[in-house]
Amino acid sequence: MIESSDFRAKRMPLNHGAGHMPVLGFGTLIPGAAATISATRDALEAGFRHFDCAERYRNEREVGEALRAGLAARGIAREDIFVTTKLWNSNHRPERVKPAFEASLDRLGLDYLDLYLIHTPFAFQPGDEQDPRDQNGNILYDRGVTLLETWGAMESLVDTGRCRAIGLSDISLNELLPIHESARIKPAVVQVEAHPYLPETELLAFCKEKDVAFLAFAPLGHGIRPGPLEDPVITAIAARVGKTPAQVLLAWAVQRGTALLTTPRTAARARENLNISTLPEDALDEINRIQTRQRFNEVVKTGSPGFIPQGS
Ligand SMILES: NC(=O)c1ccc[n+]([C@@H]2O[C@H](COP(=O)([O-])OP(=O)(O)OC[C@H]3O[C@@H](n4cnc5c(N)ncnc54)[C@H](OP(=O)(O)O)[C@@H]3O)[C@@H](O)[C@H]2O)c1
Repeated sequence: MIESSDFRAKRMPLNHGAGHMPVLGFGTLIPGAAATISATRDALEAGFRHFDCAERYRNEREVGEALRAGLAARGIAREDIFVTTKLWNSNHRPERVKPAFEASLDRLGLDYLDLYLIHTPFAFQPGDEQDPRDQNGNILYDRGVTLLETWGAMESLVDTGRCRAIGLSDISLNELLPIHESARIKPAVVQVEAHPYLPETELLAFCKEKDVAFLAFAPLGHGIRPGPLEDPVITAIAARVGKTPAQVLLAWAVQRGTALLTTPRTAARARENLNISTLPEDALDEINRIQTRQRFNEVVKTGSPGFIPQGS
């Protein structure tokens, strides 16, 4: 049986010689500056070494502050953590990519990124307004740029050496295929919603075949109830193996070959979400047989994020 310490140490190799990504990641989609700082500090202290950020979360400064303080206090080197952030939809024009990347680095207080993702495949009207809308409240899209053009600018960031790996988020297999085919630097990571109600089996198979790391967000169904945390199959397995439903969902995600992001907001939850151990094969099979299908985040349909706290 693989114990929690092995899960914590587990890392996925990234293509293009871009190093390794710890499979257990901490997500920073957290409303409020104080909560961001305390949750990031607690996650680092509990043992998380992979931090997922985004320009869109409007808290890169706070995450950077908490990380710098935590690294210094605990004598952890920058190279020992893995930091990701994401290019927002209003910065898809190639000439806006490098400035957006530099602005994120500046807010995070870092001099390189382990991973930079295109947050969604949707280009919004270019500019500093993250959520451009017309008088009727409809999103203003930018039809003047293709995802491939944005990808070209992402590749140039890797050439500078200040961005180790690049990838895509909220993308379907159909949208990923043409990028993967024509890219000079292939996507290293794909970040999408995935849990037993949305297993994304086809995309996962493609990623495994092509050595693209599959990074699952919302592995607990974003904590929404009813949802996977309360699924009778999950709660029965949890009781049987002496783990919590969250630990069962996270172990399933890792054992099927994905990395994951979770957002524990307290120190106790951070420790719980790292303290996972191997599930027996029959438990994995039972979870794979769950028939319920549900997507919790509609961002893939419009590019407009489902979970972003407004006004933060
Ligand atoms: N690319 C994208 O478009 C996208 C979209 C969404 C998210 N993400 C990234 O993915 C990260 C994770 O997504 P997520 O927040 O949806 O993940 P999640 O872990 O599925 O959901 C987080 C929710 O689960 C609850 N939770 C955490 N640990 C728990 C536990 N041990 N037991 C019971 N409930 C628990 C939290 O509640 P409490 O707060 O009460 O602890 C929180 O409300 C985000 O922070 C972000 O970095 C990316």
